[in-house]
Amino acid sequence: MTLPQNIKSHFPIFTHHPGLLYFDNAATTQRPQVVIEAIEKFYKEENANIHRGVYPLSARASQAYERVRAQVANFIGAANSKDVAFTSGTTDSINRVASGYLKKQLEEGDNIIISALAHHANLIPWQMLAEEKKAELRVISVDAQGNVDLNELLKKLDRRSRLLAITSISNSIGTLNPVAEMIDLAHRKGVPVLVDGAQSTGLYPLNVRTLGADFYTFSAHKMFGPFGVGVLYVRPRYQDQIKPIHFGGGMIKRVQFSKTEFLDFPKNQEAGTPNVAGVIGLGAAISFCEKLDQVQCAKHLKSLAAYAKEAFASIDGLHLVGQPKDYGGIVSFTMDQVHPHDLAQFLGEEGIAVRAGHHCTQPLLESMGLAATTRASFSIYNSTAEIDQMLEALKAIKKFWE
Ligand SMILES: Cc1ncc(COP(=O)(O)O)c(C=O)c1O
Repeated sequence: MTLPQNIKSHFPIFTHHPGLLYFDNAATTQRPQVVIEAIEKFYKEENANIHRGVYPLSARASQAYERVRAQVANFIGAANSKDVAFTSGTTDSINRVASGYLKKQLEEGDNIIISALAHHANLIPWQMLAEEKKAELRVISVDAQGNVDLNELLKKLDRRSRLLAITSISNSIGTLNPVAEMIDLAHRKGVPVLVDGAQSTGLYPLNVRTLGADFYTFSAHKMFGPFGVGVLYVRPRYQDQIKPIHFGGGMIKRVQFSKTEFLDFPKNQEAGTPNVAGVIGLGAAISFCEKLDQVQCAKHLKSLAAYAKEAFASIDGLHLVGQPKDYGGIVSFTMDQVHPHDLAQFLGEEGIAVRAGHHCTQPLLESMGLAATTRASFSIYNSTAEIDQMLEALKAIKKFWE
């Protein structure tokens, strides 16, 4: 499937809401029928807890869960399914790296580097850790257009740098970062890199090994999968250095009252009953994405954003926020005299779903002198015709406020 005309028909939400223009894909995507069906089928026909029962239903559920692990590994380019842990999402994955890996490595006077584009999920865990360990949180700034400055990254990397944590695509202004180059710069100084792939995984070409990511994180719900499931990929050389931060059943070799021996990564990250149906749903979402051409999807998203930027900027008093050199399917803007929330509400009344606020990137927006923007974020089921409709709605709002 390479972006067929009828792509929308795979998503039941649009049958239930025929007029809906859904432009809030950076928050969460819609789910295709195949994902909804896979979850329903699991609960109706295959439901059992995993890695515990020896009866056939449980064994089959365990196999299905482990098949998805292998599927994820293959999809992201990991060498082995053992490089992939299931988590509850990107936020959970990043917190595991902060508390389970970096906490042990970090000493007073060390530094952690992030970029100003960071989502709060890829900022606060490092900030908390830096505070606790009396380490420094270094922030690579972005220029007025929203591009990261690689020279600044180079200057900030030094022998006390313990991690670089970067974002593939900015969820608030759309910047598509030169992740491979940034990883290369960090690696030359011996610094491991975490990539927050929440906004790119599924619809952009990805191979974690070619990229060189040491830690890679993403959420199922942003790539057509269910809520409550995510992935943490850890490069083999760091796997014995990431310790569990949650403890309980399913992650142990041997428990005595005096001490416990844990299983190796990734099993040591999956204490307790995991979200089995969610993982099955993630598998279905990946199967859906596997049928797409990621190069074409990335092009489609960029061309929608380019189209929207040009169209929206034609409105007098509408200001695009961020004009990065390379970008994904995300457009942020403000309109003179209309609060971003009011704008989003007016659009909502017209059946157009966009988000308003700081998009969990408050420091970035503050550095741009803003408290909030209105954001349209696109996916494979969006079209230029829909953007034309939004343009008309924006013009009408503008007229109303004049
Ligand atoms: C770039 C980025 N990182 C991290 C997250 C957090 O993802 P989740 O809420 O699924 O944990 C988001 C969510 O919007 C995001 O856009």
